[in-house]
Amino acid sequence: MNILILGAGGREHAFALKLSESNKVQQLFVAPGNAGTDTIATNINIDISDFEAVKQIVLKHAIKMVVVGPEGPLVAGIHDFFLADAALKGIPVIGPKKDGALLEGSKDFSKQFMQKHGVPTARYQSFTKENLQEGFAFLETLEAPYVLKADGLAGGKGVLILNDLEEAKTELEEMVSNEKFGKASTTVVIEEFLKGIELSVFVLTDGKSYKILPSAKDYKRIGEGDQGLNTGGMGAISPVPFADKAFLSKVEELVVKPTITGLQKDGIDFRGFIFIGLMNDNGNPSVVEYNVRMGDPETEVVLPRIASDLFELFEGVAHQNLHEKSFAVLDKTATTVMLVAGGYPGAYAKNKEITGFENIDEAIVFHAGTATDGDTVVTNGGRVMAITALGDTIEEALEKSYRSIDKIHFDQMNYRKDIGFDLV
Ligand code: AMP
Ligand code: GLY
Repeated sequence: MNILILGAGGREHAFALKLSESNKVQQLFVAPGNAGTDTIATNINIDISDFEAVKQIVLKHAIKMVVVGPEGPLVAGIHDFFLADAALKGIPVIGPKKDGALLEGSKDFSKQFMQKHGVPTARYQSFTKENLQEGFAFLETLEAPYVLKADGLAGGKGVLILNDLEEAKTELEEMVSNEKFGKASTTVVIEEFLKGIELSVFVLTDGKSYKILPSAKDYKRIGEGDQGLNTGGMGAISPVPFADKAFLSKVEELVVKPTITGLQKDGIDFRGFIFIGLMNDNGNPSVVEYNVRMGDPETEVVLPRIASDLFELFEGVAHQNLHEKSFAVLDKTATTVMLVAGGYPGAYAKNKEITGFENIDEAIVFHAGTATDGDTVVTNGGRVMAITALGDTIEEALEKSYRSIDKIHFDQMNYRKDIGFDLV
């Protein structure tokens, strides 16, 4: 079977690698892909928000399944587009339709959903410029720090956590009245600050049953000791040591089950990944957010730990017989460290030649922002490569990741040297 993966990051390279291991997969295509996917699949350079262009690729290459990496096309309705098209409707899309994608596309929707279905989450209210004064009054009922979230997609930048009440009021007004995050912030969710340690749990569902994938923790800040600006993610670890059996079974009972049955009750036929951002407060889970896709770089530690055939699991999602599919996880720790361009998450240069990554033998090199330029591989984004290793302990895996990184070079390469610092 021929498969098309949409996206261009380390997540998509990890999907491509895992799917390439299935003997049921014939040809793999990635659009637009990167220099890493280019070595195991055929890259196709199209704009994936152009669904007509995606359609042409699917028909031309006899694609029989489409795996959507990022949230953008899902929130914009790529799955609905396929179902509405006579030539495409029999081709399964791994990823929810628009109605399910709203769990990520609208914070207000996802909070309402959690409240309605009894999923533990922070107390909240939503505001627009029409009820700004009520927003100020609600802020006064809360204690610092104040959490303000743009309702819509804001590329991971739409959440503000502020210590000062007056500043929180000013920012709320900036968001709703002056469109600080564009249309995404015409509605703003204000919620209680949650204490605890953060982690992510990933679920694959066919709408009826589900598999809980390995949990992971990512490191979002650019600087060591979790200092500095937020990034897309500088590294990740799976499993998460503080998410023990007791905690994960609470997550399943209190969060996963009500989420899946809530979707069913609301008539949302969800086929794809649910990425649940959680706070562990003294052993009690509370949901920070839902995403409707896998995380990046979390995928680069989650997929290498899955022993089962990923394509078989996707077939289960497509045909709604996921419960019949076997699912096993390796009893190993996976770590990944992201190599980023100097300056990232601010302005950074591209087209820097990358060397030394071809002969790495104790880690997997997942390409993210890379491209080929003739015979060389060059940087093509802020997050450049994720170096994943497996070990019996976090320390062993990290040693392999970092030893491998020592061999890799590009001008102004930067990475965090303390991934996992809080866990070992
Ligand atoms: P989100 O986009 O909703 O995941 O928010 C981005 C980040 O802000 C999260 O990963 C948390 O680190 C933090 N955050 C969001 N909501 C809360 C909250 N209610 N309490 C504490 N931290 C939060
Ligand atoms: N690493 C966080 C995300 O993928 O949203």
